[in-house]
Amino acid sequence: MEQTHEQPIVSMPRIGDAAPEFKAVTTQGDINFPADYKGDWVILFSHPADFTPVCTSEFTTFATMEDKFAKANCKLVGLSIDGLYSHIAWLRSIKDKIEYKGMKNVEVKFPLIEDITMEVAKKYGMIQPNEDSTKAVRAVFFIDPNGVIRTIIYYPLSLGRNFEELYRVIVALQTADAFGVATPADWQPGDDVIVGPAGSCGTAEDRMSGKEDMDCKDWYFCTKKLAKEDVLSKVVKN
Ligand code: BEZ
Repeated sequence: MEQTHEQPIVSMPRIGDAAPEFKAVTTQGDINFPADYKGDWVILFSHPADFTPVCTSEFTTFATMEDKFAKANCKLVGLSIDGLYSHIAWLRSIKDKIEYKGMKNVEVKFPLIEDITMEVAKKYGMIQPNEDSTKAVRAVFFIDPNGVIRTIIYYPLSLGRNFEELYRVIVALQTADAFGVATPADWQPGDDVIVGPAGSCGTAEDRMSGKEDMDCKDWYFCTKKLAKEDVLSKVVKN
């Protein structure tokens, strides 16, 4: 890809920041963000454009998984720099005409924001001008029940997202909060979790002498069991 040397300034919220506020028109009515989502986890995500194939495969997949995310206390909100009538027509086409990996007649019930003015996309750093100056990249913001951004993932235009990974992130964030642990590489519910670092030489010594109920390979690398049922009972509603 050709690089330009002039770097336009793009403002981007960061992990730990309060989610920037906005009011918007969506396919499910007006929303006031993040106030309307207080008490819920929410994934705010952008896609480049309506009526494009990668985006269509993504919407078919995400909408099919909407109930699974809802059971993990997580709502979905999409955005592209298109108008409301384009959104409506595209979502109707997805339901009536698209079949992808066995998914068909898929109704997108979560709100899709119209952002012709790019106001929201600019607030969230979804326009990355050296990738495309008029289309949003595939940005994903995970926002907690207090309206704080907890994870951000960006993908380029050509790369469809892995929605099982987005689900893993939502479950892992809530597990870390509920149990005061961290989650290691490729963690899935039922895998061992990481215990926070030893804060004193005494704690490090206790951990290495096996006094605590954890498995320490060295004083800074300690894991413990966390049963899948315990994770699911905290994070996933039946
Ligand atoms: C797509 O969703 O297929 C797409 C959108 C913009 C650029 C490239 C691909």
